[in-house]
Amino acid sequence: MSTQTIASGDTTILPEGAKFIPVYVMGKKYMLPETLTIQKAIEYAGFQYVRSCGCRGGICGACPTVWRVIGDYQLHFGLACQTVIEENMVLAQMPFFPANRADYKLEELEATAETLSLLYPEILKCVGCNTCTRACPMEIDVMGYINSAMRGDITRAARQSFDCIQCGMCSARCPAQIAHYHVAQLCRRLYGKYVAPGAEHLVSRVSEVEAGKYEGALEALTGMDEPKLKELYVAREAEPLDSEGWEPQDKANL
Ligand code: SF4
Ligand code: SF4
Ligand code: FES
Repeated sequence: MSTQTIASGDTTILPEGAKFIPVYVMGKKYMLPETLTIQKAIEYAGFQYVRSCGCRGGICGACPTVWRVIGDYQLHFGLACQTVIEENMVLAQMPFFPANRADYKLEELEATAETLSLLYPEILKCVGCNTCTRACPMEIDVMGYINSAMRGDITRAARQSFDCIQCGMCSARCPAQIAHYHVAQLCRRLYGKYVAPGAEHLVSRVSEVEAGKYEGALEALTGMDEPKLKELYVAREAEPLDSEGWEPQDKANL
């Protein structure tokens, strides 16, 4: 196994015999190991991520990347941390997309179709081209949730967009200039505040906290020294992996 120190101070381990392929970063050609993700390959080329990189696990949406492969007219989209490089990729990263975001106070809104069309009137200009769906690295039915928002079906739009990571690739491509992910976020906020049934146990837990139920336990913990805290941690009742039907013996803080 050979190792190569990369710009972030991280180390990438290449499989024996990894082939080096040409990839274009910022318009310049680099020979890079074919086994790397776009993110690691860019670091391998000597760049350091200051923006456009967060979780490195496909969750935060910070690393949207657009590329073409030389000789192919198509634009491709993906997350730099999840996509492995291929020969003759011409890469451009998109750390932020300047999409329109409406200014509102959630507590002053109603969960209606009018709210959506007042704050984001451009959703009514959707031409049904489905480009947004094709651009989405999360395989979300983006046109579907915009159509639900157009109809004022906030519950459906919230559920359809649940996996959105706010990367902005859909909005970069939309001919109607819709900021899909901000529309979806508004739908999920309206759904959470006005549509989804309230969790009764949450209300009762908040009133217990406000009544000071946990203050004694908190004071005891903050007064302990480190060895005692470690001892307590090691001796804690841990939930088993298969927790079906499991309940802790000590329910004092439940
Ligand atoms: S890209 Fe824009 S216009 Fe096309 S389907 Fe999606 S929301 Fe509608
Ligand atoms: S819906 Fe848009 S912003 Fe959300 S993950 Fe898909 S492409 Fe990214
Ligand atoms: S770095 Fe978070 S999704 Fe790629």
